[in-house]
Amino acid sequence: MSELETLKAQALAAVSAASQLSDIETLRVRYLGKKGEITALLKGLGQVSQEDRPKMGALINAVKAEVDDAIVERRQVLEVEAEDQSAAANAIDVTLPGRGTGRGALHPVTLVLDRIEAFFKSVGFDTVYGPEIEDDYHNFEALNLPEHHPARAMHDTFYITDSVLLRTHTSPVQVRTMESREPPFRIICPGKTYRVDPPDPSHLPMFHQVEGLMVDETCSFADLKGIITEFLRVFFERDDLKVRFRPSYFPFTEPSAEVDVQCVHCLGKGHCRVCSSTGWLEVMGSGMVHPRVLEMSGIDSERFLGFAFGMGPERLAMLRYGVSDMRHFVDNDLRFLEQFR
Ligand code: FA5
Ligand code: MG
Repeated sequence: MSELETLKAQALAAVSAASQLSDIETLRVRYLGKKGEITALLKGLGQVSQEDRPKMGALINAVKAEVDDAIVERRQVLEVEAEDQSAAANAIDVTLPGRGTGRGALHPVTLVLDRIEAFFKSVGFDTVYGPEIEDDYHNFEALNLPEHHPARAMHDTFYITDSVLLRTHTSPVQVRTMESREPPFRIICPGKTYRVDPPDPSHLPMFHQVEGLMVDETCSFADLKGIITEFLRVFFERDDLKVRFRPSYFPFTEPSAEVDVQCVHCLGKGHCRVCSSTGWLEVMGSGMVHPRVLEMSGIDSERFLGFAFGMGPERLAMLRYGVSDMRHFVDNDLRFLEQFR
């Protein structure tokens, strides 16, 4: 009798301690299964005396029912708990803040291109675009750079065929404009340009230029100086910025000048890494359009004069933002780019 009581107590304790549905099943098999401990007691009734058998049978059945009820009840509790747990694990907390999308920003060279365009728009220049894949005629020939001209050596580029190439400057766009428009006109041509220049702190094989061209009956070197000087003062936001025009040579302009600005880093005071201690920084080429170049594109050089210039936005961006190496612009390093937000 006390054996049965002990068994019942053990079974009920085990069931109420079960924390997993799989434990409950194990307990069911252990006590109530075909070879279970309580089942064995019922099977053993045969050996009990006839007299005691009904009483004994009733007692064992009562224990069996009690354990069975306890198992069913505990199983329900554990099933509900398991459901709650999986619901919690899969829950979406609608009150959490979103992850957000990183805020982008314009590239510093784009910012510079926008500033250049805004200035020239304000003084009446249209913005026009031309092809990056050019033919030899527009990139060289029509700019007074015939085959074997030594100045071509500085414009080695990537060739698609013998006469089709990636443009080395934006000057072919001035040729295309002179071919298609009647003067007077003033245009700027921003865009990508290509040269076989290995990357270094001041060169990239792909860079930008902004070409400028004005053609009119009265168009002088003084106008060129005035517009460029004003542009540089506005661009660098310095009314007292010193600008100089240094005689130079381009096959497509005559006379020609390189435009230097007072070093924005040392303000011309010398001992400076940015300007190699010269106090000046070259920012663009310029000049009066060569009469031959006007004529080749069908413009009467007796009646019309033109001035042109070509600047490098990467170079201007380095000066404006104090960047010491042009390669930063193409490294795609967010730590660098984020500074221009
Ligand atoms: C020219 O390309 C002339 N077409 C400019 C011009 C136009 C002169 C109209 C007269 C009239 P240059 O080769 O100096 O000139 O290039 C102009 C500017 O492009 C340079 O001052 C520099 O800022 C930029 N540049 C040239 N090569 C590179 C390079 N590899 N990487 C980055 N910038 C460059
Ligand atoms: Mg130059």
